[in-house]
Amino acid sequence: MKTFYLTTAIDYVNGSPHLGHAYEKVLSDVIARFRRLMGDQVWFLTGTDEHGQKVQQSARKHGVDPQAFVDSVSQEFRALCAKLEISNDDFIRTTEERHKRVVRQILQQLYDKGEIYKADYKGFYSTRQEQFLQDKDRNPDGSWPELFGEVTEITESNYFFKLKAYQDWLIEHIRTHEDFIFPRYRAKQVLEFLKEPLNDLCISRPRERLEWGIPLPFDEGFVTYVWFDALLNYYSAVADKPGIWPATFHVIGKDILVPPHAVYWPIMLQAAGLPLPRSLLAHGWWSINGAKMSKSTGNFVDAGTYCDTYGVDALRYFLIREMSVGQDSDFSQAQFLTRYNTELANNLGNLVNRTLNMTNRFAGATVPAAEVAEAPETDLRALWEKTRDEAIALHETFQFHVALERTFAFITSTNAYIELRAPWKLGKSSDPKDQALLRTSLATMAEALRLGVTLLAAVMPGTTRKIQGVLGYTPGSVWADELVWGNRLTGCKVAATAILFPRATA
Ligand code: ME8
Ligand code: MG
Repeated sequence: MKTFYLTTAIDYVNGSPHLGHAYEKVLSDVIARFRRLMGDQVWFLTGTDEHGQKVQQSARKHGVDPQAFVDSVSQEFRALCAKLEISNDDFIRTTEERHKRVVRQILQQLYDKGEIYKADYKGFYSTRQEQFLQDKDRNPDGSWPELFGEVTEITESNYFFKLKAYQDWLIEHIRTHEDFIFPRYRAKQVLEFLKEPLNDLCISRPRERLEWGIPLPFDEGFVTYVWFDALLNYYSAVADKPGIWPATFHVIGKDILVPPHAVYWPIMLQAAGLPLPRSLLAHGWWSINGAKMSKSTGNFVDAGTYCDTYGVDALRYFLIREMSVGQDSDFSQAQFLTRYNTELANNLGNLVNRTLNMTNRFAGATVPAAEVAEAPETDLRALWEKTRDEAIALHETFQFHVALERTFAFITSTNAYIELRAPWKLGKSSDPKDQALLRTSLATMAEALRLGVTLLAAVMPGTTRKIQGVLGYTPGSVWADELVWGNRLTGCKVAATAILFPRATA
């Protein structure tokens, strides 16, 4: 079986993690957990991107040396992963020896093959920002914005990678591999970009300008351009692990699809004679309360604080329920609270509490066996089967928000089933038929709850575990077996109460 190899973008460590980083990790984690539940062998990688100009500048601003700076910020990203219950198998840092070794190996190989050459680069350079500028950086009147300071045209020797030679091959690859870019409409954007002739890619920076990078193996006077270095993390992290490369999915934000992931990366691999990843999955961007996320204006959501206040699964649920993968979304505090209270605290929370309360009150805390199957039971079971099949298909196509909507509709229907059967009334009757119905309704609500929360396992793993725990149930590891209606809880001893999502106020 081919390992399902999943990666996230590796985050720049020039600043602390934010909600965008948290989302990408949670989204990828949902995919990884879903594939494991489907029985796949999964390898899930995340990490940090630690070289380059921006990091060197941030370290300087903080008055610390770059290595100490990246050590500390990378640790914040690792801590965020732990807090979000991300199930990554590995965490790569581009300052690690294992990564640098592979980058230098591939550079040398490409150089030896003649895919890299030296040439002069002429352009406008800002000494203050220590970067070359593009025409798009100019003011509308053609002058250079104040922040660049003095701008002069300079010529610099550098190394270039032969991108242009692969342009036709790449266009053909994208045209013939329908699932290379997801969502599909983004492939059009890539092909549009490829209508213009590509320039070869400048992959070096002279060391006198930039110290903080991987020295070129064939010319130590230069360091590697940060994107060329960073993209290789996906390969370097598994280079010594047989059977993992190529990646199945690279999960990235839409801002880094074109050109880095959809143009540079496939060409780098093709030139190096390595297999290409199956797919790039580009997600959209979060805004906060309708505005662009910005630390300086305070328009900012700290993922860690949300986990502390509402629980990690409340945040995971909101991020996945609210955003349609690929599209942009807004993180509104009001919408967060509405979903938290109505969907988690009321709908799911009520079902759990009613199931526990009534099983305690009417059955000595032990789930009875179902004895009859009338319309309410067979209808609920039919709805379950439809919900399960749809939810799995929706997971397969990354429509997690719709899968959650269907799952919660099933939870709503289970609450409606309880209203209909009204066990509290049946419990007052001594008629044997009512008693059989009472036991049946208790068994049915417990089984429906077990199944519903199992479908939430990829998005809310902790909540699923907790509910399985209060139901006295020890689950198996794959959905094929777990998602079958089968009165699995008969004889299980349930807890007295469970506190899952206490109601929240603004
Ligand atoms: O781009 N909403 O790092 P990065 C959703 N180091 N996603 C967002 C977001 C937002 N508001 N802001 C950022 C880099 N992201 C490179 C990647 S990969 C070889 C190198 C996403 O820290 C962004 O789209 O700027 C990207 O996928 C990830 O966070 C890291 O962004
Ligand atoms: Mg960015």
